[in-house]
Order: sequence, then structure tokens, then C-alpha cells
Amino acid sequence: MFITLEGPEGSGKTSHIPYLVEYLREKGYTVFPTREPGGTSISEQIRDVLHDLKNAEMLPRTETLLYQAARAQIVEQVIKPRLAAGEIVISDRYYDSTIAYQGYGHQQDLEQVRGLVCYATGGLTPDLTVLLDLDVEVGLRRKTQNEVEWNRMDAYTVEFHRRVRAGYLEMVKAEPRRWVVVNSEQKWDDVQAELKKVILDRLVKSQ
Ligand SMILES: Nc1ncnc2c1ncn2[C@@H]1O[C@H](COP(=O)(O)OP(=O)(O)OP(=O)(O)O)[C@@H](O)[C@H]1O
Ligand SMILES: [Mg+2]
Repeated sequence: MFITLEGPEGSGKTSHIPYLVEYLREKGYTVFPTREPGGTSISEQIRDVLHDLKNAEMLPRTETLLYQAARAQIVEQVIKPRLAAGEIVISDRYYDSTIAYQGYGHQQDLEQVRGLVCYATGGLTPDLTVLLDLDVEVGLRRKTQNEVEWNRMDAYTVEFHRRVRAGYLEMVKAEPRRWVVVNSEQKWDDVQAELKKVILDRLVKSQ
């Protein structure tokens, strides 16, 4: 099973994943966590270029293509082999982030962006995608208050991040069977409990 966590900045993806992995391993599952952009040597190098605040002149098309380059590498090198070995792969972001950020956020042609995503992934779609949904200003505030990494994407305008969130909600409407929405404005423990339930339910149903 291929599970992805999506959501605006500061919605909790990175902080929840290690606990989900531990929980599923305790239940006897073999789980492999990864993140995007990143997860391979080449993809992590591309991540550094994408996130570097010095690269303020980066154009949306360049950004879109760099994400797909990083993605193509992790899909073939890591995700497909792990899935083929019967493991559960949990990814901190995947291609829906490109549709949300480079598509809706930068207001690029969605069909063109979807075509690039399809090329990069070879059509590999998650079995379950959880949207950690919250008001974008709450998420951005969490990041500044807790002094977690502040990268080039975080630094886009609040309007950009509002379009990203609206884009995610559109995607949920278009593919309601793949997506589950979890309200990430709840207390962290409540979000964690809901995530565990959503993922375990889906795993049990798929067996
Ligand atoms: N439900 C919550 N309530 C309060 N604080 C939270 C909650 N969830 C996450 N946080 C805190 O918000 C900050 C951002 O969380 P995290 O880094 O997990 O978000 P993220 O979704 O990975 O963000 P990004 O998309 O920017 O990588 C962290 O300091 C985290 O501890
Ligand atoms: Mg994160």
C-alpha cells in the first residue's frame, strides 16, 4: 500500500509520520517512510536547490520541472521496489503537492502540470492520500513560532498558500475515494489518533 500525506505548510505531515511508522510497525507491518522532494541522493540534492531561499529568481516552470526530476528518481529507485516487495510506503508529500503548489499556487495550466506529473511517476498513484487541512495562516504561524525550517516555498505569499489549500480541497472533491481529510487545527494528539485510525482502517479493509 502506498500512502501519502499532503497539506499546506505547517499542517503536521513531517511531525506525525515517525509516530505513524512506529505504530504500524508495532502492528506487524513493514513500513518505509520517505519524503518529497528527496528520499534519494539525487533527489535530496534537487531538494536543496528547490528550498534554498537564495534561489528567489526561480521561475514556476523551472520549479515544476525540478520537482518532477526529483520525483522520477525516487519513484523508480525507492517507491516502486519497496511496494513490489510488499512494504507499506508512507510519503511526506507526493505528486498532489505539485498539482496544489505548482498548479493551483502558481496558476499554471493544470492539464500541462498533470502531464508532467504523469511522465515523472509513470502513473504511480497512491492508494490513500490524507489531507491534513488547516487555515494556512495557522500553519505558517506554527512554523515561525516553533522555528522549524523556513524554505523558499514557505516564503510565498499568503494568497499563494490560500490557492494551494483551495486546490487541495478541489482535488479531494474530484477523487473522494482516494482522499481522507483530517482537520489539523485540532490538538496534535487528536490529529495523531485520527491519522492512526484512518490508516489502520484502510489497511484492514485492503487485506
Ligand atoms: N496539531 C498541532 N497543533 C500544534 N502544533 C502543531 C500541530 N501539528 C504540528 N504542529 C507543529 O507545527 C510545526 C510544523 O509541523 P510540521 O513540520 O510537521 O508540518 P509540515 O506539514 O511538515 O510542514 P511543511 O509542509 O512546511 O513541511 C511543528 O513545530 C509541529 O510540532
Ligand atoms: Mg514537513
